[in-house]
Formats: sequence, C-alpha cells, structure tokens
Amino acid sequence: MSTVLTDMPKYKMNNGLEIPAIALGTFLGFDERGLIKSENKMLRDVVLQAIDVGYRHFDTAAVYNTEDEVGEAVRMKVGEGRIKREDVFVTTKLWNTRHRREQVVKSLEETLQKMGLEYIDLYLMHWPIGLNDDYTHTDTDYMETWRGLEDAQQAGLTKSIGLSNFNKQQLKRVIDEGRIKPAVIQIEVHPQIVQKELIEYAHSLNVVVMGYSPFGSMIKRYGIQFPGPRFDDPVLVDIAEKYGKTTAQVVLRWLVDRDIIPIAKTVKYSRLKENIDIFDFKLDPEEIEMINSFNSNTRYTLPSFWQTHRHYPFEKVENPIADPFIKN
Ligand SMILES: NC(=O)c1ccc[n+]([C@@H]2O[C@H](COP(=O)([O-])OP(=O)(O)OC[C@H]3O[C@@H](n4cnc5c(N)ncnc54)[C@H](OP(=O)(O)O)[C@@H]3O)[C@@H](O)[C@H]2O)c1
Repeated sequence: MSTVLTDMPKYKMNNGLEIPAIALGTFLGFDERGLIKSENKMLRDVVLQAIDVGYRHFDTAAVYNTEDEVGEAVRMKVGEGRIKREDVFVTTKLWNTRHRREQVVKSLEETLQKMGLEYIDLYLMHWPIGLNDDYTHTDTDYMETWRGLEDAQQAGLTKSIGLSNFNKQQLKRVIDEGRIKPAVIQIEVHPQIVQKELIEYAHSLNVVVMGYSPFGSMIKRYGIQFPGPRFDDPVLVDIAEKYGKTTAQVVLRWLVDRDIIPIAKTVKYSRLKENIDIFDFKLDPEEIEMINSFNSNTRYTLPSFWQTHRHYPFEKVENPIADPFIKN
C-alpha cells in the first residue's frame, strides 16, 4: 500500500503566499513533427493520477499546449470534491510573442479560458525575449512586459508573478525597477548546471527558485545522451543505497535540500509516485557537495537561435542551432 502525501511541504513567497515544494512538469517535448501534443487526454489523466498521489503543483506554459488538459484535470478533481481549488497551485507562462504590455492581460485571459479556471497561482514571463508572430525579434523591453504581468496580478487573474530564464543582471533589474517584486524565478537546475551564484542571489532577495529539467544528463534529450551522470552513476547509487531510495529520488532531494522546487516531468504512474516520495529523508552537506561537483555549467535548454536578441540571457555559442519554432 503506497502512502499518499497529503501534507505537501511549502515555501512562503515574498508576497506572503505559499508554494508547494515540488511541481509536476507538463512539457511533452518536441519530435520530428514539432511540439508533442497530448492525445486522447493522456496528460489530463496523468494530472488526475498526480493529484491522487499527492501532487499539488503543476507547471505548464502557453507554448506547451498542455494548459487545457491541466485545467481540465484540476476542474474535475475540484468538481468531485477530492480537492478545493485553493489546494492546488497552477503555474503557467506567457509566451514570447505576447510581450507588449497590453498583450499580457489578454494572453492570461485566453489561458484562463483554455484552462476553465478563474485564476492561476503563478504567471511567469517565459523568457526575457520578445518576438513578433513570425519569430523575428522585437525591441520590447522585458520591463514593459513586466508591467503587463503586474497588471495581470492587480486584476486578480494570477495570485503571484515571476520570471523564467532570466540571468542575474536581468533579475536585478526587475527587482530594482518593478513595482511588484518577482515571487519566483524558474531556471534550469540539475547536476550538470548547479547554478550556485544565481540561486544564492535569488534566495538573498527572498525570491523562490523553481528548477527545471532536474534529471539533466540522466535521461536522453532530443534523442541524444549528453555527457554527465546517468541513473546508474556510482556516486548517486551509493547515496541512494544509503537511504533506500532511487537515484532519481536522490537528485530530486538534492534540489529540495538546496531549497529549490524541482519540476520533474513524467507521464508514468509508478514514476509519479517515485518522484514525490522524497520528503522522508535528507542528504548530508557532503553528499550535496558530491552532487554539486558534477557541475559543468551545461544547459540543455539553450536557444542559441535567439542569441542575437538584445535580451538573450545566456552565454553565446559559435554555431547557433536552427529555430524549431519556425516552420518552413
Ligand atoms: N522554463 C523553461 O524554459 C522550462 C524548460 C524546460 C522544462 N521546463 C519545465 O520543467 C519540466 C521538467 O523538465 P524536462 O521535461 O526537461 O525534464 P526532466 O523532468 O528532467 O526529465 C523528464 C524525463 O525523465 C523521465 N523520468 C521522469 N521521472 C523518472 C524517474 N523517476 N526515473 C527515470 N526516468 C524518469 C521522463 O520520462 P517519462 O515521462 O516516460 O516517465 C522524461 O523523459 C517540464 O516538463 C516543464 O514543465 C521549463
């Protein structure tokens, strides 16, 4: 009989509201045809199962094409009386083609319509990068976009607002120039990109950090096995054996022990249960350091096709890849 975690640990955000300590990712990835779309309500059913096993936080985005099914699952569980709307935390993100201030509230209204919800809990600016509908670059400053997110919070469409894929300087600028302080920053965090500096900075400003792609090099990405630890890595296996856990759980716990909210994606029931069963053990500081030492500052989300944009947040590469969002 598996235990259901009903009392999910939470962090308090700088606006006084709470955010659950682990989120389920709902980005299904790309294949040769483009963005993978859920078929036959597969993702809705995963979210229904996730709520049953104790997940209380879901991460989606306008560009993932999964907002509708996340919303449907939440509505079904609320309708059944299994949960109240306020028991679940829904995060979604504004897409880059809607960066003008007056587009932001409209985009969130469209999202709410799709989800069938009256409000979301957290609205993130997905990237600091503004694009036109044809994916050419705009000059829209992300501070203008931030004003739009502030409007959305003020209108009650979202409880909190935050950033995703911003670097330290960009985060600082929003803190300095914004009327509302970002409650959260969502960034890539896994053993291959430990993000010490940015996370310390965010925490020093009382900004909660969500870490995406937590399994890093442990899984194949875009059909490629990147260098770095796998699920059978001896360092991770040793730690896992000590606690009677899997190496996936050890890596998720490594994020939790660094006060980062892991966003782990799975569509498999057994893994939903495995990935949330991480709140009954704690890593030693030395074990955290052992995992930190895998760091090679490698990003798997590296949209180098945007690197000529004036607000591109990451280091530039010599050979940028082709833009998968532009269809020929
Ligand atoms: N803000 C951003 O720009 C951004 C970028 C990327 C991702 N994200 C968010 O972060 C979420 C997670 O990132 P991600 O999808 O890149 O990667 P991830 O969660 O690190 O990895 C997901 C992969 O790991 C497998 N997996 C999950 N649990 C496992 C386990 N216990 N053992 C073995 N394999 C396991 C999944 O397969 P199965 O599904 O088959 O189990 C899937 O292939 C996304 O879904 C999205 O919500 C945000």
